[in-house]
Amino acid sequence: MTTARTSDLWWKSAIVYCLDVETFLDWDGDGTGDLIGLTERIDYLAGIGISCLWLMPFQPSPNRDDGYDITDYYGVDPRLGSLGDFVAMIRTAKDRGMRVIIDLVVNHTSDRHPWFRAARSSRTSPFRDWYVWSDDIPEEPKAEVVFPDAEDSIWAWDEKAGQYYLHHFYSHQPDLNIANPKVREELARIVGFWLELGVDGFRVDAVPFLLETGGIAGNVEIDPHDFLRDLRSFMARRRGDVMMLGEVNLPHKDLQLFFGGPDGDEVQLLFNFILMQSIYLSLARQDARPLAKALRETVRKTDDQQYANFLRNHDELTLDKLTDAQRQEVFDAFGPEPDMQLFGRGLRRRLPSMLDGDEQRIRMAYSLLFSLPGTPVLFYGEEIGMGENLAIEGRLSVRSPMQWTDEKNGGFSSAPPSRLRRPVVEGRFGPLAVNAAAQRRDPDSLLTWMERLIRRRRETPELAWGAWHVLESDVVGVFAHRCDWEGRSVVAVHNLGADPCIVRVELGDVPEGATLDDLLDERGALDEIDGAALELKLGGYGYRWFRIGAADQRTPP
Ligand code: GLC
Repeated sequence: MTTARTSDLWWKSAIVYCLDVETFLDWDGDGTGDLIGLTERIDYLAGIGISCLWLMPFQPSPNRDDGYDITDYYGVDPRLGSLGDFVAMIRTAKDRGMRVIIDLVVNHTSDRHPWFRAARSSRTSPFRDWYVWSDDIPEEPKAEVVFPDAEDSIWAWDEKAGQYYLHHFYSHQPDLNIANPKVREELARIVGFWLELGVDGFRVDAVPFLLETGGIAGNVEIDPHDFLRDLRSFMARRRGDVMMLGEVNLPHKDLQLFFGGPDGDEVQLLFNFILMQSIYLSLARQDARPLAKALRETVRKTDDQQYANFLRNHDELTLDKLTDAQRQEVFDAFGPEPDMQLFGRGLRRRLPSMLDGDEQRIRMAYSLLFSLPGTPVLFYGEEIGMGENLAIEGRLSVRSPMQWTDEKNGGFSSAPPSRLRRPVVEGRFGPLAVNAAAQRRDPDSLLTWMERLIRRRRETPELAWGAWHVLESDVVGVFAHRCDWEGRSVVAVHNLGADPCIVRVELGDVPEGATLDDLLDERGALDEIDGAALELKLGGYGYRWFRIGAADQRTPP
């Protein structure tokens, strides 16, 4: 048994929890969450079994893209606290056994960053080449506008500079020029700074855009992947166990490049956007095949690579990699109103409301997420089943305040509701019905169930480390897969359909006389296996996890 290895490549079996400090807990009563508030809730997170926090940007920012537009990479926005509060928070998280990663948003700065102010002021400014300029709008690379509601080009004219500048995202987010060695040096310095303060890694924002320099007039030809490679080895020199989690929403065939190809020397973790989108198609159709196909296409080529799996994140639920017809199926099932949709490619809802509050179906979806090979990533509030607030504009609808209690402002803040950073959810998914305090005391709540699920997941390294296979079954709505690691095997079976069924799952190789240990059923029921197939009764949206083989003192209890 090599459980010891799992602490070495810790990100492979982490349970990641993403939160935004400003919407988590407001300690000083000014209407905005803060680092002291987060520190006060570290024990809550540790109690759920979270092993790694991912903090969305908390640096000084004019907040025109919710902090993804930074004006100082070496500070904390004063609304959220101080660097001192940050270090106290990290120290507390570590004491409770949690690692902390932060967003690294360096594809672009805010247009109010001193670097950009200097760059636009004159052609001879030492910062001019920190950004990407052009006299005309270049024909190549093809303009791929990320926010079509607000922008129609990735080039914007700057009166002061007398040139166009590149911005893949909003025009107030000018792209940094990573072909400039000075920029690369500065980015390493930023990374080094936060490592000294104790962070354990970075969620690297918008990686394909960050790396895109090719074809831009005036740029030195570099292999942009060298930049990621250099950053990885820089981090490894500073601290051996640092992890990068890349945001790369591309087809599987393109992902290997970002892991670093056969050498695996770039990012260690990549979000599995394709698997996520297939899950939604499978849920909408109640047909396991799209998910099975996506999992078959998910490959891991080196030992330290891992995928990060998620059902929701802080952005719109992007369905951009589905065909138009497939996307429409998901829209019809989970977000039929135009107001629920965004950019023609996504939904601005949270999972429980998309599943119409069906608790059995919600649990099945999370059981599926936690059983899939990869590192599960939760977005704050998912553990209690929060919904969105469609009254909040655009993607921000899912970034409403965390619901702690049934009191004023859901216990998030003591400020008058009109002063809150963002309004709380109202109605069916609002704090009166959905809050952490009530669920904490209820043995049958989603939160209590989720805690048990996370505990089980942490005790099941096969799922994080094992080789995976999709298993054949004879019911179209049933998804079954198996993970093998160190002579142990775990099988998970999920009924994506609303109807109960009797399903036959082909298990593959099974040792003679092996039994099945039910990992989720608290009674630990053992079933005999008949040959290499398993016949199971599943309720509508039913789910089971099994470990194959005789339970002995070597397997977790
Ligand atoms: C990423 C973030 C998104 C942000 C964008 C620009 O896609 O997830 O929230 O707006 O990058 O930084």
